Amino acid sequence: LRDHLLTAIPAAASPEALEALRVEALGKQGSVTQLLKTLGKMTPEQRQSDGPRINGLREAVADAIATRKASLDRAALDARLASETLDMTLPAEAPLAGTVHPVSQVMDELAEIFADLGFAVATGPEIETDWHNFTALNIPETHPARAMHDTFYLQQGLDAKAGGTFDERATFSLLRTHTSPVQIRTMLQQQPPIRIIAPGRTYRSDSDATHTPMFHQVEGLVIDKGITLGHLKWTLETFLKAFFERDDIVLRLRPSYFPFTEPSAEVDVGYTIEKGKRVIGGSGGGWMEVLGSGMVHPKVIAACGLDPEEWQGFAFGCGIDRLAMLKYGMDDLRPFFDGDIRWLKHYGFSA
Ligand code: PHE
Repeated sequence: LRDHLLTAIPAAASPEALEALRVEALGKQGSVTQLLKTLGKMTPEQRQSDGPRINGLREAVADAIATRKASLDRAALDARLASETLDMTLPAEAPLAGTVHPVSQVMDELAEIFADLGFAVATGPEIETDWHNFTALNIPETHPARAMHDTFYLQQGLDAKAGGTFDERATFSLLRTHTSPVQIRTMLQQQPPIRIIAPGRTYRSDSDATHTPMFHQVEGLVIDKGITLGHLKWTLETFLKAFFERDDIVLRLRPSYFPFTEPSAEVDVGYTIEKGKRVIGGSGGGWMEVLGSGMVHPKVIAACGLDPEEWQGFAFGCGIDRLAMLKYGMDDLRPFFDGDIRWLKHYGFSA
């Protein structure tokens, strides 16, 4: 048995053949295992002479298996290294590169266009106080516009109200429903003349194909001496021509109402139909509402500690997501926030 095993094991041609030999010798029913079992039934004298021989056989077989296994493993590794060569001349696969999201891209474009007109970029918190989002903008507590804004209120504000510690100027109690509170923060922080835009996230409890609970607006504010509606119209026209990269942009100002501007105007931009699609420019096809605007209400200027007799200005607020939809021909707002690479690719926003 010893001769058979100690010749067969070093000659095992594969890991599988070696494993078969191990089972044959050392497995539960293996020949060496069977021999070891006989030790129990031997007389003490027999055990003294056969014991060391049988145990020695078990050790010799185990050693032979380990040695053969090591050399088979080494041979397998050598074979793999020989076969797996790397062809350095093959072209590399390009890594998947991220790109700028349409909303971020439009924000960058807006900042650039307005920088050319002398506007700085201002920001404010997305969690706001009642006072900055409403009261200072001439929307007192009882004003129906508060209900129209579908505001998300925060528990800490509701708790403060219930506990009698609510301070409308200091308690951050809601998600801003528009970027207009940045008008207030800017006028409180810096002396006129002021020329800023404020792009950012805004929130309303509203959701369908053209409304998402979180959306983006850009606010514009100019405060100076002798500012008129003419300055407003020229600024918007210049901005929209640059943004849509067309000279035939036509604006229509419709009288409207916002508590924080007087007079107020809703601004429509004309479009034409080209190959069955709406294209901004001209006005043969109709009008599209793009923004709200007006002359800053004297009460708003006064709420910020400025003298409305001395300072006047205009303001506008515009949906950024809507601008992106119009510029890139998208018809549903929701995919903006799904993060689906196929959608970005379709509109040319992904590599
Ligand atoms: N804040 C207004 C809105 O969200 C837009 C607006 C801004 C109107 C500034 C006039 C002046 O609808």
